[in-house]
This record gives sequence, C-alpha cells and structure tokens, in this order.
Amino acid sequence: MKFINPKENTNRDNYKLLIGTIIPRPVAFATTRSKDGIINAAPFSYFNIVSSAPPMISIGVIRDTVEPKDTARNIKETKEFVVHIVDSDNVEEVNKTAMNLPYGESEMDLTKLTLVPSTKVKVPGIKESKVRFEVELEDIFEIKDGEKIVTDLVIGRIVGFHILEDILYDGKIDPLKLDPVARLAGSNYSKLGEIFSLVRPQK
Ligand SMILES: Cc1cc2nc3c(=O)[nH]c(=O)nc-3n(C[C@H](O)[C@H](O)[C@H](O)COP(=O)(O)O)c2cc1C
Repeated sequence: MKFINPKENTNRDNYKLLIGTIIPRPVAFATTRSKDGIINAAPFSYFNIVSSAPPMISIGVIRDTVEPKDTARNIKETKEFVVHIVDSDNVEEVNKTAMNLPYGESEMDLTKLTLVPSTKVKVPGIKESKVRFEVELEDIFEIKDGEKIVTDLVIGRIVGFHILEDILYDGKIDPLKLDPVARLAGSNYSKLGEIFSLVRPQK
C-alpha cells in the first residue's frame, strides 16, 4: 500500500484520487432561478442523501474562482432549486449544460430540454427526467481552505417528489427502469452493473 499525505500532493492530484476512488457518483442535474428570473442549469456529482427523515440532499458546488458558481449564487439568493436524477436518456443533453456561461445566460438555451413548472417552488424543472425533487435551501456552508472559500456546500430539504409512474412499484423505484448514469473520473460515466443481494445479519 502506498501512503499519500494530501498536504504534500497538489490539489489536482488529490482531486484525481478522489474522483477516481469515490465511484460511481450519482449525478444531480440542478435547475435554479436568478433574482431576475433567468433559469440556470448544471450537473453535479458531489451529490448525496444527507437525511431521509426529513428528506435532505447535499451538493458540493466547487468555486473555480473566488465567486460562487451561478447555481450556488442563485440558491443563496432565492433559497430554492430542483434536482433531477440523470439517466441514460437525458445525460447527453444534461452534459451540454456543464458549459460555464456568464452569469445571466441560461444553459437551457444550449439544449433540447424543456422546462416544466414546479408545484411548491418557483424554479421550474425539466420534463425529460424520470425523477425530480423540488428543494428548499436548508443550509449553505462556505467551506474554507485557510482564508479562501473553496466550496459552497448546499443542504436542501425536499418538499416535493415527482416520479414517473412507470418506474414505481409498491412505493419503490425499479432501478433498471430508472437507468441512472453515474460519474467516474475524467469524461467517463457508468451505468448500473450487476445487481446482487446481501441480507443484513440480525441478532
Ligand atoms: C457530470 C458532471 C458532474 C459535475 N459535478 C460537479 C460538482 O459536483 N461540483 C461542481 O462544482 N461542479 C461540477 N461539475 C461542473 C459544473 O457542472 C460546471 O462548472 C457548471 O458550469 C456549473 O454551472 P453554473 O456555473 O451555472 O452553476 C460537473 C460537471 C459534469 C459534466
């Protein structure tokens, strides 16, 4: 085994170790709305469940500059967003939105994706998604490295689930019908592989 001290590594090398080992990562496609009503959209793989009761999720929005990304800025300002689970059918269109456009320009214009109104939040979602969550901002943490803010860690509370009925049975999700895609390192993605079961031991 090789021991690596992250403090002796470059940021780039630590990044490569993380994105290569914490795999596969689910991908959240987040739509947000600016104060002026412009819809922003971008994918995020630093994404997971934080709590199920109440239902909460997290997204780590990295700062490429000293300013927050548009997604984090809009969430801070309007306190709402919509998260979609990226799947084989929509991943190519979603990928187009990862382009870094100037604030105030909508990535949605680069895609064939269509907006659909939400029920409880003012941010619209996209139609071409089997699952979408309407989310209210619970908390946002500015993660620092020394004095510099490097990440906006967004914690959101789900206030509405939209699930395509075809993928639902007994209140559960059929993973093969959802057909999610996940992020690996570089430009690589993966689909679901072999599924196996393991019963949890009981006392
Ligand atoms: C599949 C995928 C996953 C991504 N995951 C993240 C992530 O977890 N955090 C992040 O800050 N950027 C991530 N990015 C990059 C953002 O999507 C990109 O910076 C985008 O332009 C941000 O949009 P915004 O500035 O409109 O918020 C990812 C890109 C792709 C294609």
